[in-house]
Amino acid sequence: MKDTFKAVKIFDDVYWVGAIDWDVRQFHGYLTSRGTTYNAFLILADKITLIDTVKAPFADEMFARIASVVDPDKIDYIVSNHAEMDHSGSLPAAIEGIKPEKVFASKMGAKALGRHFDLPCDITVVSDGETLDLGSEKITFAETKMCHWPDSMITYQHGRQILFTQDAFGMHLAGFERYADEYDRAIVDYETAKYYANILMHLASFIDKALEKLGTLNLDISMIAPDHGPIRRTGEDIAGIINSYAKWSAQEPTGKVVVVYDSMWGSTARMAGAIGEGLSAGGAKAKLMSMSACHRSDVVTEILDAGGLVIGSATMNNDIQPAMADVTTYLGGLKPRNLAAGAFGSYGWSGEAPKNLQKWLTDLGLNVIADPLRVNYVPDADDLAKCRQFGVDIAKATLASLED
Ligand code: FEO
Repeated sequence: MKDTFKAVKIFDDVYWVGAIDWDVRQFHGYLTSRGTTYNAFLILADKITLIDTVKAPFADEMFARIASVVDPDKIDYIVSNHAEMDHSGSLPAAIEGIKPEKVFASKMGAKALGRHFDLPCDITVVSDGETLDLGSEKITFAETKMCHWPDSMITYQHGRQILFTQDAFGMHLAGFERYADEYDRAIVDYETAKYYANILMHLASFIDKALEKLGTLNLDISMIAPDHGPIRRTGEDIAGIINSYAKWSAQEPTGKVVVVYDSMWGSTARMAGAIGEGLSAGGAKAKLMSMSACHRSDVVTEILDAGGLVIGSATMNNDIQPAMADVTTYLGGLKPRNLAAGAFGSYGWSGEAPKNLQKWLTDLGLNVIADPLRVNYVPDADDLAKCRQFGVDIAKATLASLED
């Protein structure tokens, strides 16, 4: 296989030896429309070091890429920056096949790996800020807890100034090009935001701590090499992603309002359309997302840079519709903040859905600006005018929040 799957040279002494997963579409609820990569990196220092591994089914691909530049037996160290199985799945096979002198992980990483696998060797725990001498190179470890799991850490390669960041600063994007500047910028920007929104949005306080730590370490960074998607190698790209993470962790509101809804016979959809007209007339940028047509992970991506959220459902069996239960459960876990909000929906006789959605918005701590808007059966002209005004009012509240 090493004649087919080749390592990709980053520098003379650093290679990408990961795997490309063109087919994955589901990442525990996250629609990965463009597939992904599981990145692993090989540092050819005096002590040859493998940074992370790949998802288990791709172990052969990783070994082939390694073997295209060095006999895997010659690897001295393995570093596990993150214990989640898309990066550690091949670790048991790697330990078995390579028999490294040492495997390094954070304290929580060693614990997590011990719970995942019956590994044939001990994990050497590294402390926050510890530097490991590889002879011709040095690497330093920094804990970045909860970016994405408690074990997460980043590794800095001093000579080449590469920051290996595991999940942080990554994206789900399959491709043979290894650098972000080789892709369509709009795709890179969207997939970066989608990754942050779906994986890290609820961990904003930990992102802040990680960014603060990066600032304190004051590293010269020539590359950010995450465990998913392409590497950032230009100054603009590196500064851009760090700035984007700072902006997203603050979840600064904008004049965009996302309307998320599902409809049974079209009444709630008509309400959504009229609310959208009002939002637009009120000066907001309205984005309507029917859960019959949109995926939950695209909804949360749109909410990442919104200032308002309007949510609607027809009442079905005394509650919200199943698609709304799906998206509210998902969104609730990701904890969007700083949004003006409102709830709406049509009903026949009991009408619980808008009230239940209003409670969900309130429990989430959002700025609910009006009573739930309900329409019996089918909206008439007066009802639609009320919906439009509801949209105007939410637009005003959203835009007012930008001035606070
Ligand atoms: Fe890509 Fe948290 O694993």
